[in-house]
Amino acid sequence: MRRKVIAGNWKMNMLPNEAINFIEELAPLVKDTKNEVVLCMPYTDLFYALLTAQNTNIKIGAQNMHFEETGAYTGEISGKMLKSINVEYVIIGHSERRQYFNETDETVNKKVKAAFQYGLKPIVCVGETLEQREAGQTEEIITKQTELALKGLTENQVENTIIAYEPIWAIGTGKTATKEDANHSIKSIRNKIAQIYGQTVANGVIIQYGGSVKSTNAKELFEMSDIDGGLVGGASLKADEFSKIVKFEN
Ligand code: 13P
Repeated sequence: MRRKVIAGNWKMNMLPNEAINFIEELAPLVKDTKNEVVLCMPYTDLFYALLTAQNTNIKIGAQNMHFEETGAYTGEISGKMLKSINVEYVIIGHSERRQYFNETDETVNKKVKAAFQYGLKPIVCVGETLEQREAGQTEEIITKQTELALKGLTENQVENTIIAYEPIWAIGTGKTATKEDANHSIKSIRNKIAQIYGQTVANGVIIQYGGSVKSTNAKELFEMSDIDGGLVGGASLKADEFSKIVKFEN
C-alpha cells in the first residue's frame, strides 16, 4: 500500500514568525495521522521551520533549487545548501516556475538528479494548460513531462520520486479536476512509468493531485485508487484548514 503524502506549497507567502506560529498550531492537530505531512516554504522560513518542527511529524521542504552544487549563480540555492540545514523535500518544476522562470523539462530533469545526489526527496510537478486539455492533449503532455523529468534515474530513484499532477487550469482558480478525471490522468502517468521502469516500480511511486484542493474536496479525491495525497496551495496557509486536509479520512 502506498502512503498518502499531503504537502503544503506556501508559494511566496509567510514570514518566519508566521511559519513558526503555523507549525506550533499544526503540530498537535496532526500528531496522530499516519499520512506524511510536508510543508514547502520560502527559503527564508526554512531554518526557523526546521527548528520548530523538531520532535514533530511535520517534514520541511523547499520550493526550488539549482542543479549545480556551488558557483557563480547569483541568487540561487543549491541542493547541497538545502541538505546542509536538513531540509528533506524539494518541489521541482512547479508550473509557476515553468511559466515565469523559464524552467524546462531539461532543467527539471537536472534538478531531480541533483536532488537525489544531495539526499533530497523531489516532488516533481507536471500538468497541462487549459488549451492543451481542450485540444485533447492532456495525457500526451503529462506523460511526456514525466518521462523527461525522470530520464536517466535509477529504478530506485524513480520509486522515491513524488509526482504532483497539477492541471494548470485548476491552480488557484477554485476549479478542481473531477475525482475521476484526476484519477484517470494519474493512472496514465503511472502507466507510463510502468512502461519504462516496470510495474513494480510504478506501483510504488507516490502521485499526488494538486489544484484547488481544500478540506471539502480532499476526501473524495484522496480516496481514489491512484491519488496518493495532494499538493495544496491556498488551503495550506491556514493551519486549521490544512490539518483537515491532512486528516481527510475523518
Ligand atoms: P492551489 O491549491 O492554490 O490551487 O495551488 C495548487 C498548487 O499550485 C500547489 O502547488
